[in-house]
Amino acid sequence: MKFTEAQRIRNLPPYLFARIENLIAAKKEEGVDVISLGIGDPDRPTPDHIIEELIKEARNPANHQYPSSVGMLSYRQAVAYWYNQRFGVGLDPRTEVVSLLGSKEGIAHISWCYLDPGDTVLAPDPGYPVYSGGAILAGATPHYIPVCEENGYLVDFDAISPDVARKAKMLFLNYPNNPTGAVAGGDFYRRAIDFAREYEILICHDAAYSDVAYDGYKPHSFLEFPGAKEVGIEFHSVSKTYNMTGWRIGWAAGNPEAVEALGRLKSNIDSGVFQAVQYAAAAGLTGPQEIVDRQNAIYQERRDILVDGLNSLGWNLTKPKASFYVWAPVPKGYTSASFAELVLEQAGVVITPGIGYGQNGEGYFRMALTIEKQRIREALDRLAANIGRVSF
Ligand code: MLT
Repeated sequence: MKFTEAQRIRNLPPYLFARIENLIAAKKEEGVDVISLGIGDPDRPTPDHIIEELIKEARNPANHQYPSSVGMLSYRQAVAYWYNQRFGVGLDPRTEVVSLLGSKEGIAHISWCYLDPGDTVLAPDPGYPVYSGGAILAGATPHYIPVCEENGYLVDFDAISPDVARKAKMLFLNYPNNPTGAVAGGDFYRRAIDFAREYEILICHDAAYSDVAYDGYKPHSFLEFPGAKEVGIEFHSVSKTYNMTGWRIGWAAGNPEAVEALGRLKSNIDSGVFQAVQYAAAAGLTGPQEIVDRQNAIYQERRDILVDGLNSLGWNLTKPKASFYVWAPVPKGYTSASFAELVLEQAGVVITPGIGYGQNGEGYFRMALTIEKQRIREALDRLAANIGRVSF
């Protein structure tokens, strides 16, 4: 029997990291000791107090039943508490926070809440592929906004034509940024809020990396700025902050109407996060935060080794202030895909080609800092031995 896929599924490209996983598996089968600087997936353990809370709550039969699809009030209170401690932002846990099965899920589903077929969403290019993927699934059309090195990878609102802005219903922003590691300051967020007000656009800010930062830098939440809750929501999770990517728990916070719409959608299609996991995530959010600084010190050391190592091979990179990504140009004569292929074939090292984040990511590649420093050193040694010095 031949099944005809819906057009919106046919429009969806294969997911970047699914493709990379297949490549790694194939290389491993050939017996190659692959060093993956591909996906940004924290390698350090989830802190003990979070695991202890999970074990305790998993033993309670009351937690074995269907959870609330929008999250337990105590979990949402923990999110509100964390926002207050971390950013000085006040949130009403009943109306301004909804739990998610990881922020990726909410980022994809928000498009279903606000986009009809034919609608336009503004998505930065390069950008996390889920911004456009969710919109495509909703039958909408992403309009890509190029962001570039010269502009610090910040969206230039003055360069968006008023015709495009008038058509758009949503805008995705993401700082600290994946894949570029760029960060945004107060002036940028204030300008974004003005832009959203002028064109009545919902801002969806992805803040997954707000707590992965270096050299004492503390990234902002978009919700810190006046008017943010009127025009937008922020997606976040415990994944990157507390090494919990596999646990699948996050949240959206901010604009009450958008929070309610997401909650309504989710109550129709999923049954929420296992309550023991909600308790454990709450323990992370309300517990000791020194773990975050300790972890950032580890990533910072890795960042320094990687950036210094690449610079000694001919790159001229500035160290990113946040996120665990190093974004670098490909050497002369390569596309991002051909360079990634060369590095995998010659050195057994996985890097992510910039084209996977959009047309404007062409000419760059991304390396993640989520492996031990010894392996980063080894990756650099292999690059030095097999690729040598590069030019641009
Ligand atoms: C990445 O490597 O870009 C992230 O780990 C993807 C994700 O958070 O889903």
